[in-house]
Amino acid sequence: MAPAPRITVIGTGYLGATHAACMAELGYEVLGVDVDPDKAAALQSGRLPFYEPGLEELLAPHLESGRLRFTTSAEEAAEFGDVHFVCVGTPQRKGEFAADTSYLDAAIDALAPHLTRPCVVVGKSTVPVGTAARLAERLEAQAPVGADAEMAWNPEFLREGHAINDTLHPDRLVVGVRSERAEAALREVYAPLISAGVPFLVTDFATSELVKVSANAFLSTKISFINAMAEVCEAAGADVTQLSQALSYDPRIGGLFLNAGLGFGGGCLPKDIRAFMARAGELGVDQALTFLREVDAINMRRRFKMVDVAREACGGGFLGRRVAVLGAAFKPESDDIRDSPALNVAAQVQLQGGEVTVYDPKATDNARKMYPGLAYAETAFGAAHGAHVVLHLTEWREFREIDPVALGDVVAEKHIIDGRNALDAVRWRAAGWTFRALGRP
Ligand code: UDX
Repeated sequence: MAPAPRITVIGTGYLGATHAACMAELGYEVLGVDVDPDKAAALQSGRLPFYEPGLEELLAPHLESGRLRFTTSAEEAAEFGDVHFVCVGTPQRKGEFAADTSYLDAAIDALAPHLTRPCVVVGKSTVPVGTAARLAERLEAQAPVGADAEMAWNPEFLREGHAINDTLHPDRLVVGVRSERAEAALREVYAPLISAGVPFLVTDFATSELVKVSANAFLSTKISFINAMAEVCEAAGADVTQLSQALSYDPRIGGLFLNAGLGFGGGCLPKDIRAFMARAGELGVDQALTFLREVDAINMRRRFKMVDVAREACGGGFLGRRVAVLGAAFKPESDDIRDSPALNVAAQVQLQGGEVTVYDPKATDNARKMYPGLAYAETAFGAAHGAHVVLHLTEWREFREIDPVALGDVVAEKHIIDGRNALDAVRWRAAGWTFRALGRP
């Protein structure tokens, strides 16, 4: 039997660190590569530069056994690997909608000149359609083995907070390839998942790239759809949580990603739909995605609405008012604050004269770096101390478990606004609070 392929993972952020640990868990020898020596050293010593449930625990045994290592050397990676997964970021370009793919170019440029034996280089990053074909040329042109350094695309669908489960038990595997050799290499790497029944779809490059961005476009649209219904509910005196529950029983609609509230944020959905629109424009089909502008606009309006409702609860203005913000991460089980709706609202309230104190179970350190002007507390009760209004903006379990009677003892006024439709209105009202939520009477 041929020896198992050796795997490298280039770029060790959320996606790469998770992928590296999970490939080791599947039994492969794995080398993680990052240009940032601090990051590589931290990972090598078992420390994660971000919070992801279960990931440190998964890294530890594989680091100890030596099956998983981290380096900064592209040369070492080229020497080591049979299959190279590229997991670098593709952020939104400053002042534009388009994605910045320069980290991908840099990863290929660093690796390719050292590739002296056949291998497959597999892009996992979310990219504008056409990127894989472009990188394939760049790879072949620079690799000493030429076309034997082959490109493939294998988009990643993992959600932060569920990254390990989404990697080891994905809904599907999609691989964009140009040859049977590349397909066979990926079938071999993913054999344990395929034999567990995970659907394995083989496509061309362009389709595989589009699967990822269209999935994110669909999910964003679903969230903005229910948030548009929330706007109508607010005007008509209806309850969007009951509406979405009733819709969810229709299997054609389904209940997942149908939670109305403060809308989507994070490092993926907002920038991915914008990059998708920009790419459609370049391809001359901008009209096909014009609706995503509306999806984006509905999403951003929820943040303003939240500020409006909070201002009303403060009696028409924030001056001289203390506002407690529960949540800073863009979603629970994460310390990621990129494009966080919660911090966007907190900053707006502060700019309008409110005295804002934020508490988040995991994201406080990151939030403090980006928004040093906000005050931070060590506990939810600390944030709520003396508050005139409490805003629930990220639906951590800890916040659902707060005792409204006890919290009522520390605030100045008992007003709570649920921006995530996750708290039990009956309990809060029974404890004497005025309870408001987005999309509900
Ligand atoms: C997303 C995709 O789900 C994932 O498949 C892709 O690989 C990367 O982007 P992630 O950014 O981790 O993953 O977060 P996700 O769980 O999708 O949530 C995104 C945002 O939508 C969060 O801010 C969340 O609060 C919000 N959301 C989600 C809603 O407002 N309502 C919902 O019903 C669901």
